[in-house]
Amino acid sequence: MQLGVCYYPEHWPETTWAEDAARMRAIGLTWVRVGEFAWSELEPEPGRYDWGWLDRAIDGLGAAGLRVVLGTPSATPPKWLVDRMPDMLPIGRDGRVRGFGSRRHYDFSHEGYRDEAARMAAAMAERYGRHDAVGAWQVDNEYGCHDTARTAGPVALAAFRRWLASRYGTIDALNEAWWTRFWSMRYRSFEEVELPLGAVTEAAPGARLDYARFASEAVVAFHRRQADEIRPRSPGRPITHNGMLFFTDLDAHALGRELDAITWDSYPLGMLEESPLPDEVKRRYARTGHPDLVAFNHDVYRGALAPEPGAPYRPFWVMEQQPGQVNWAPTNPLPAPGAVRLWTHQAIAHGAEVVSYFRWRAAQGAQEHLHAGLLRHDRTPDRALLEAESAARDLAAQPEPPARRRGHVALLLDYEDLWAAQIQPHAAGWREWLVWVEVYGALRALALDVDVVPPDRDLTPYALVVAPSATIADDALAASLRRALDAGARVVLGPRSGAYRRDMVVHAPAPGPLAELSGARVGRVDTMRPGTTGALSAREPMLGVLEPAGYHTWADLLEPEAGTEVWATYAEHAYAGEAAITMRPQSAGMVVTSGAWLDGATWARLLGTLALQAGLPVLPLPDDVRLSRHAGRPLLQNFGSETAQVDLRPIGGPLVEVPPVDVAWVDLPETADG
Ligand code: GAL
Repeated sequence: MQLGVCYYPEHWPETTWAEDAARMRAIGLTWVRVGEFAWSELEPEPGRYDWGWLDRAIDGLGAAGLRVVLGTPSATPPKWLVDRMPDMLPIGRDGRVRGFGSRRHYDFSHEGYRDEAARMAAAMAERYGRHDAVGAWQVDNEYGCHDTARTAGPVALAAFRRWLASRYGTIDALNEAWWTRFWSMRYRSFEEVELPLGAVTEAAPGARLDYARFASEAVVAFHRRQADEIRPRSPGRPITHNGMLFFTDLDAHALGRELDAITWDSYPLGMLEESPLPDEVKRRYARTGHPDLVAFNHDVYRGALAPEPGAPYRPFWVMEQQPGQVNWAPTNPLPAPGAVRLWTHQAIAHGAEVVSYFRWRAAQGAQEHLHAGLLRHDRTPDRALLEAESAARDLAAQPEPPARRRGHVALLLDYEDLWAAQIQPHAAGWREWLVWVEVYGALRALALDVDVVPPDRDLTPYALVVAPSATIADDALAASLRRALDAGARVVLGPRSGAYRRDMVVHAPAPGPLAELSGARVGRVDTMRPGTTGALSAREPMLGVLEPAGYHTWADLLEPEAGTEVWATYAEHAYAGEAAITMRPQSAGMVVTSGAWLDGATWARLLGTLALQAGLPVLPLPDDVRLSRHAGRPLLQNFGSETAQVDLRPIGGPLVEVPPVDVAWVDLPETADG
């Protein structure tokens, strides 16, 4: 449990560096990330490197007792490089070239640029790979930020065709998968295939899904090229990358397979402002951040790397932690006093090894001059510095943490499900991630810890496995769930589960290979306008447990087979009386299917009942309060503006008062882990 900061020595006079390093150390920071945008300072002319300043910066940080995360600067290729190969510039999906003058001005598929980025990474690793102060590497910065993962233009097109040829082998196989008999879309060769952008109306779903896969894989290939240069030159130093909140264009699980540690950038207020949550929620949490949005992203990234055998998870960090106002959201409020400290502790309690603030000192010029740092523009401390210092003191005073813990519930996330729903939302209210966040929030409000994991992860340790929307279903998914059921799990399938095959052709009938598990097929599908809701009628054994039960946006009308119980039916609209929630006993466990997108309270009633049956330590928490225990020691967090009384006695803990925007570490018996 350590703290760090992102630092840009190249922005400031060298005379200030030694004092900066000493101050960082004095407030309890141990890690400093440098270099990730510094290409034109490191190689001002082609082939003429200027390492001197970075040598002195790294030496100075090391001498102050700090460890360095060295970033490769491929997010910011210099002007001379762009002028040498202008076709490296990304072309937006609208067909316009996205030019030089900010950052991320390259196409991931451009072979020449991949080579250049790899050359620069190799040169840096050659020089600093074995430096005592260099403890880790970050390759590039926020892949795909500013909508740069999915591009158009000749570079992307040629790469897409090559990718398709290697995926399908023959054009007939592609025609089959994309259903090109429809609308006369048949191709005679891979050379005829276009990017699924700019067609008169929507392009074929199969083509769009492949484009999403291709774009994500291009990022991973770009990453691998640099990592391959760094690894042999910098033995023992983990290689990481910093992901983004609620980002869909890159499959974090696929990138995770390439990384030694994963990190993400946590901007609780910016994220809330940009989220699709209702205005009243944004107002309520405008200065503290939403208790579940940040936590969900922690859990997504913590789950992105497969754990070593026997361990609950692999290292994850917050590489950039919001320290004050940001500059990029529609409005940029100042955090409440205490919020930075709260976020720091929250990250640690979700398993973060390091929390690193962005940035040390507010930039006086250029694009981010209105973004806060730990220091203000004039080098005086901003409030975040004091809160970071206080967090560092708290963490240093913590007893050695008990062993890290697995979550109680596995929440399945497959990026292809997000892509499929992006391509075919079918309901104005179907916003990617939202159903995940609602299910997650319901579990978190019951004091349950959640592991967000890909479906191929070992699910057998979990008593409760929830797939909020396993839209794309294949035999591998069914087999993974079957193993969990054999081990006694309760498996919950949410709306749209089993809708599609991997090629985005619908299962006939849905839910395809999941039908054997759910014991119910999907007969018809209803979607509702935003703001329209519906009621469900519960049946035994959920009578009196589930009601009042409501849903919105999506309704799969379920047709149960013999042996499948109906737990709730739709109570209104054109399909009153049809099955909405079913339960099928399976092996040692059961499969509960909700064809309806339940509202938060109904999810909580359903999942809470199942969790209690499974022996998990369910405890309804006060609004605004969350309990997290991935790091071993349980942490209560209060995101509200009033002191919260939290009674942990039902799960064997104490009665605790948590002041507003504050935290309390507590002790709970191991049995409270279920
Ligand atoms: C991140 C980015 C940083 C900085 C920061 C500002 O997305 O990685 O370089 O721009 O946002 O909040």
